Amino acid sequence: MAIYPIRTFGDPVLRTSAVAVSDDADSLQRLVDDMLETMYEAPGVGLAAPQIGISKRIFVADIGEGPFTMVNPEIVEVSGSWTFDEGCLSVPGYYWSIKRPGYAKARGFDIHGDPVEFEGDELMGRVLQHEIDHLNGMLLLERLSRREKRQAMREIREGSLGSAEYR
Ligand code: NI
Repeated sequence: MAIYPIRTFGDPVLRTSAVAVSDDADSLQRLVDDMLETMYEAPGVGLAAPQIGISKRIFVADIGEGPFTMVNPEIVEVSGSWTFDEGCLSVPGYYWSIKRPGYAKARGFDIHGDPVEFEGDELMGRVLQHEIDHLNGMLLLERLSRREKRQAMREIREGSLGSAEYR
């Protein structure tokens, strides 16, 4: 297993819509093992492949109930609304109060190509939406209002992520 460096804000891979996964189960298992190790080490509750520079539609997550993986996932249902201080391993150290649907259901596949479905309220619903956003090249900043986003960008520019090291 291997721990990957996590790509941060400003890396173009994070703004790229990832491509559908068609790899065999063995190589996906290796990728999932590496992604989980990287996620737990961070630590985080979810990690999408683009965050380690792999532009494929797969994510791993664990909200404290054990790890799960979704390949080629899609949100199929949302409802309600929930405001939560949301963070992202690719924008480390920042949290923004973001309102999204409270409940989400996602359908996709496991690494063997068998259909899987995950759903939930609050943190589970949030993780499903956040990770699938990553696969669509979208960071949580895009879920802020224009004014909030402007403020957030200013904070990022003035903070460590805005340093030359991350450009
Ligand atoms: Ni994230």
